Amino acid sequence: MDSLLSVCDIKEDVSYIIDLAIKIKAGEIEDMPLEGKTLAMIFQKSSTRTRVSFDVGMYQLGGRAIFLSSNDLQMGRGEPISDTAKVLSRFVDGIMIRAIEHEDVVELAKYSNVPVISGLTNLEHPCQALADMLTIKEHFGSFKGKKICFVGDGNNVCNSLLLIAPLLGMDMSVACPEGYEPDENILKISKNFAKDNNTEITISSDINIALDNVDIVYTDVWVSMGDEAEKAKRLKDLKPYQVNKELMDIANDDAIFMHCLPAVRGQEVSADVIDGPQSVIYDEAENRLHAQKAILYHYLK
Ligand code: CP
Ligand code: NVA
Repeated sequence: MDSLLSVCDIKEDVSYIIDLAIKIKAGEIEDMPLEGKTLAMIFQKSSTRTRVSFDVGMYQLGGRAIFLSSNDLQMGRGEPISDTAKVLSRFVDGIMIRAIEHEDVVELAKYSNVPVISGLTNLEHPCQALADMLTIKEHFGSFKGKKICFVGDGNNVCNSLLLIAPLLGMDMSVACPEGYEPDENILKISKNFAKDNNTEITISSDINIALDNVDIVYTDVWVSMGDEAEKAKRLKDLKPYQVNKELMDIANDDAIFMHCLPAVRGQEVSADVIDGPQSVIYDEAENRLHAQKAILYHYLK
């Protein structure tokens, strides 16, 4: 069964899904394409955007979603993931899961007879990356010749952006301190995608190098869900990487600011930037809905 656990899973379909999202957002699909379909949504971590956008997305497509906190599932008491996958597959048409460990989502997909969609793991956040690219296409009209820079912690969101950007023909740089680089294996795949698509991937601890000729400045929290024990060290190490006015001035004059949210003003981004004229964060959040409706249509229809 086809599942969406990584941007790699939609390597060939990224452009098509983004264009489908644009059509869906414009109201250009049939009514109720997912009538009678049910999506199970398993959450091992908190969520605002992912939970609400998948729930509303299923409703708007004519189906329904069931919210399942992993604390309330037997899985939370030790029922094997394989049994959970096989049983849920008998009831529902798709499973969305936000998990702590990426391997658990791989395991769930292995035993599921219905598509599994990742709503974030420690390794990737593919749905976010699709919504981000939809936002970039809406803003700039195309991806060609554009460069995105991720500033800060090379985390799950950064990893998915590293995979999706070269697939769409964009250059990407990451500005991060030593020890906060993105996942090594993802970086290898990203560089291969870049080679195939004639784009460039650069990782640098030097903000001036990473932000040279950049159209999109992206950041995310310094303390992701699960990193709480390292909070003090992270805040100290990442402090020079705050996206503020001074840093935005290094990027192109018409550069936009993006953040997957939730954000901590005064840490990874200053309030004047995230709430300023270059910020597109609410369009980006809204696009979670449209991008995921395209994903649901593609996988569940
Ligand atoms: N960006 C994102 O995934 O937000 P939530 O954690 O609120 O779902
Ligand atoms: N990197 C963040 C993203 C939240 C949407 C986290 O994993 O907590």
